[in-house]
Amino acid sequence: MTALLELENVRAGYGPTAVLHGVSLSVPESGVVSLLGANGAGKTTTLRAITGGVRWTGDIRLGGRSLRGKPTEDVVRAGVAHVPEGRGILTELTVDENLRLGSHLRRDGAEVRKDYDRVFEYFPVLKERRRLSASTLSGGEQQMLALARAFLMRPRLMLLDEPSLGLAPMVVRAIFEIIKTINQTSRVAVLLVEQNARIALELSSTAYVLEVGRVAVQGESAELKGDESVRRSYLGY
Ligand SMILES: Nc1ncnc2c1ncn2[C@@H]1O[C@H](COP(=O)(O)OP(=O)(O)O)[C@@H](O)[C@H]1O
Ligand SMILES: [Mg+2]
Repeated sequence: MTALLELENVRAGYGPTAVLHGVSLSVPESGVVSLLGANGAGKTTTLRAITGGVRWTGDIRLGGRSLRGKPTEDVVRAGVAHVPEGRGILTELTVDENLRLGSHLRRDGAEVRKDYDRVFEYFPVLKERRRLSASTLSGGEQQMLALARAFLMRPRLMLLDEPSLGLAPMVVRAIFEIIKTINQTSRVAVLLVEQNARIALELSSTAYVLEVGRVAVQGESAELKGDESVRRSYLGY
């Protein structure tokens, strides 16, 4: 498969503090790739590099084109939807208003309406609560809203930062099922950042494990899941 996203020897950090020390990874068209690793390994920083939120060197390419020097807005327009750590929901707005932030750049009105129908099929609870303030949603519902908003951008690639964080196991299951459905029916590629390696490896085809800003292990998800030494050393279960 052709790579949709490629990171090549990416170094990044905050001011004088280097965090990523040469990260290379790739996400195929329509693929699901996990980026795993302990707290502080550099997972969020990797996503921020892709979206232009931190300075980086090396190269990052989307569909073969370098994202070097591109501001976040251009990366978004090129088809990258970022669901950040903490979800990025605007709690002073209603559910509907949050959703419209996802679709507002689109000019394909008929398709947008179909995508709203799909969103309410995936997340019926959002339909019920459309007119309510997003602050009334539970943590799981806010994660659903963040995913729905990202989906409404019709991205080629979704960057998901710890969608399971702080949620009950059953809610996590439901959310991962929907991520799978979105990937399979809309062919959106997913780069999934998770500390919850077990559930991430069930969804992804390939995975990378970051350790202090370097890729320590990479391989097929099924193999990593079955490799006891990898599990014990890097995945913590
Ligand atoms: N805004 C920031 N300013 C300075 N250092 C940061 C900032 N954000 C993260 N870091 C540091 O970068 C390292 C990697 O963080 P992060 O990418 O958030 O890791 P992860 O998402 O894997 O937990 C950590 O040591 C963290 O303290
Ligand atoms: Mg993080």
